[in-house]
Amino acid sequence: MCGIVGFTGSADALPVLVNGLKRLEYRGYDSAGIAAFDSGSIRVVKTRGRISELEHKLRQTPDFSASCGIGHTRWATHGEPTDENSHPHLSADGKIAVVHNGIIENYADIKARLIKRGYTFVSETDTEVIAHLLDFYYKGDILTALCKVMATVRGSYALGVLCADRPDEIIAARLDSPLIVGLGDGENFIASDIPAFLSHTRDYYTVDDGEIVCLSKDSVTVYNSDLEEIEKERLTVNWSVEAAEKGGYEHFMLKEIHEQPKAVRDTVSPRLENGKIFLDTDIPLELLSELSRIHIIACGSAYHTGIVAKYVIESLARIPVECDLASEFRYRKPIISKNDLCIVISQSGETADTLAAMREAKKHGVRTLAIINVVGSTIAREADHVLYTWAGPEIAVATTKAYSTQLAMLYLLAVKLASARGLISDEEERVLALDISHLSEKIESVISQINTLSYFASKFHNHKDIFFLGRGVDYAAGLEGSLKLKEISYIRSEAYAAGELKHGTIALIQNDTLVVAIATQAELAEKMVSNIREVKARGACVLTIASEATRDMLADVSDCLFAVPDCYSKFSPSLSVVAMQLFSYYIAVARGCSVDKPRNLAKSVTVE
Ligand code: G6P
Repeated sequence: MCGIVGFTGSADALPVLVNGLKRLEYRGYDSAGIAAFDSGSIRVVKTRGRISELEHKLRQTPDFSASCGIGHTRWATHGEPTDENSHPHLSADGKIAVVHNGIIENYADIKARLIKRGYTFVSETDTEVIAHLLDFYYKGDILTALCKVMATVRGSYALGVLCADRPDEIIAARLDSPLIVGLGDGENFIASDIPAFLSHTRDYYTVDDGEIVCLSKDSVTVYNSDLEEIEKERLTVNWSVEAAEKGGYEHFMLKEIHEQPKAVRDTVSPRLENGKIFLDTDIPLELLSELSRIHIIACGSAYHTGIVAKYVIESLARIPVECDLASEFRYRKPIISKNDLCIVISQSGETADTLAAMREAKKHGVRTLAIINVVGSTIAREADHVLYTWAGPEIAVATTKAYSTQLAMLYLLAVKLASARGLISDEEERVLALDISHLSEKIESVISQINTLSYFASKFHNHKDIFFLGRGVDYAAGLEGSLKLKEISYIRSEAYAAGELKHGTIALIQNDTLVVAIATQAELAEKMVSNIREVKARGACVLTIASEATRDMLADVSDCLFAVPDCYSKFSPSLSVVAMQLFSYYIAVARGCSVDKPRNLAKSVTVE
């Protein structure tokens, strides 16, 4: 959801900024721009379109030379992707430049006030008010002006600012949008995310809400909102640049699908010892045994892992689980009691709705446990307890390995809850833990059948509507399968609980409609056979995702069948979803879609 980057040092800033933006393109990619100091004054190059368009424009300005600048890759919120709406935005005299990630909620009021005072706006963006407001408050000290701007605006922001009176310095600030500072040797950086500067330095600070940072090539000073200097803890990135490279794969998504066995192993194995599950969090065991209810809050695919978890936790640990979309939870006045646990799931740890929903939950005094992939992200820092998924950096917008690690983490938690509540014996815990630990090799076995899945994709890629049907955890897996397909291939697709289809949606089934039936659970296979017959009787073509245990029952009623290995039946989404990821991937490739950067999407949704 927009990426910002800034560099100050001795090197040529333009390639550093452009390469940083390329690493952030997953956050938004409808326009891009940079502003940099050229011979003491601020120069801007920006354009609608991807970073490649920006590079093209920069090649037309060969005299542009700078060693300090800021850059932006945009995911449009206010105003279409046009050259004028692209960031950076400038004050009228060109002495202040701003890049922004977030939303200024009261921008219309501020804009009206500034227009009355004679300011002229050239874009439709909310961000432009910051450039003019900084100019309005500027009386020779940009930090004081920025403090006043921060007191005036409402909403969320990560800001990078250049001021012509402080050449070769970058000023930055944040509220509810991610921002980090990269600490190099004779050079320093700001960025929305680590990959933007990882090829230059592994050391960084996180910036907290309300803080202001001032960077020159030799110094980084961090201030609180009263402009008092504060100390920050220096952190070091523990993964490599290569982890964020394509490594020979055609797309990041394909690479990340292949990384799932390792990611799941890395997430599970450190938490198992002699068949017992050890959760690396200080959450007290008595608390787990006394919980009255669990609330799961998340968005997108993370929410889908929550739905799987509802089935698994309720069945194993017999605790009522409510799974909410974060955007709904935060405004629906949820009923929460102190004996509840709120589980927040997020790959990025920065999703605006998830963060706000967690803050809302905390107001009710409930304990929060976050399942997060990005170490040190805002949700991880603010939650009472954190369990990290060890998926490594995920670049493709459509999540795969983060989803799989979240599921694995939730299974571990479900089994731990069941044992803490005395509902399973040590031996049953050992058997279930072993089953979780074997998931990574079973995922490997699904991936090894990649050719079959790409063949199915070649058969079905021209379909206009695809329905996913399943029961129980297979329905939950279908929700993710359907989301994967629509986000990368743009095929209209819906997932339904198989028993619910006949209550309306079956009206949409006609000759040759493709139905993907997920039927991995032996106990529900007969019911699925009936549901498959119902859609076939109306002309549907059925691709079934079965398990070894259900394959024989389903083969005759299906047009095509793919079987995943057997596992404890409630853990089967870990396997069926991988098959659906590959199926969707090859459909998107066959349709010539932009797999890693699908239209209109962004990986990290840091605006509401
Ligand atoms: C976006 C991404 C999804 C992701 C969701 C939640 O919509 O495209 O893949 O599931 O955000 O993101 P989070 O970082 O909180 O898991």
